[in-house]
Amino acid sequence: MQAKSENIVIVGAGGAIGGALVERYAALPGVQTVFACSRDGRSFSSDKVQSIKLDYYDETSMIHAASALNDAGGVDLIVIATGVLHTDGVMPEKSLHDLTAHKFETIFKIDMVIPALLTKHFIDKLHLSQRAVMAILTARVGSITDNQLGGWYAYRCAKTALNMFIKNTAIELARKHKNQIIVGVHPGTVDSPLSKPFQAHLDPKKIFSPALAAEYVNQVVDTVQTGDSGKIFAWDGQEIAP
Ligand SMILES: NC(=O)c1ccc[n+]([C@@H]2O[C@H](COP(=O)([O-])OP(=O)(O)OC[C@H]3O[C@@H](n4cnc5c(N)ncnc54)[C@H](OP(=O)(O)O)[C@@H]3O)[C@@H](O)[C@H]2O)c1
Repeated sequence: MQAKSENIVIVGAGGAIGGALVERYAALPGVQTVFACSRDGRSFSSDKVQSIKLDYYDETSMIHAASALNDAGGVDLIVIATGVLHTDGVMPEKSLHDLTAHKFETIFKIDMVIPALLTKHFIDKLHLSQRAVMAILTARVGSITDNQLGGWYAYRCAKTALNMFIKNTAIELARKHKNQIIVGVHPGTVDSPLSKPFQAHLDPKKIFSPALAAEYVNQVVDTVQTGDSGKIFAWDGQEIAP
């Protein structure tokens, strides 16, 4: 499928899904430039890709990275593909006894606060006078309605809070910038460092490659309309209840 977008920004280009999104969009003939933001300024083989180094923990770095888009003539799509389920010192909690302030602070910072601040600094780069989309990768486990299993306290709660942030921002955009759409996208279960420790009990056929996940994310962001702003969609385009 050919993207309608010409200038694309992928934040989180160092991740499995973020990197696959950069490669996918760079391969589409309708795309002019893909701005690939990551902590280490990961480079890509396509000359359409402009790599940008970005420290997610520093708002000044966010402002600086966003300013690199000033001469692009407007951005059609921004995907924030950052997020963690575990870090070196933090594994998802199975029970209340596993909760610590450090786990909550670490996961909330990465999965909720950082995407919110990235949105704050990047959203003004989207087109004003034509349809433009901000998509943030979230997770189905952030749905309160869908929660059947419990566990993974910090990750679930952070993604739920992220989903509220998406809804809140959609309300503000509808008042101020009606062509700008913000949605959350659950990419499915994807083969990546994030899911690696949890893949053993999964049907391998239900684990997507990063390239396939990128294709699905592309399809979702291509189809969302103004009335969809603030909603969360799964990889197959189905809306996920809050
Ligand atoms: N994989 C799945 O099965 C799955 C399922 C549901 C939802 N998701 C969501 O999809 C998104 C991308 O996941 P992925 O599978 O592509 O994971 P991944 O390959 O592990 O990529 C992790 C991403 O998070 C960033 N990151 C890693 N450690 C960080 C830290 N300490 N502080 C701040 N940022 C950090 C990385 O930044 P750099 O780009 O700078 O390296 C990278 O963009 C996440 O939001 C995740 O919750 C994934």
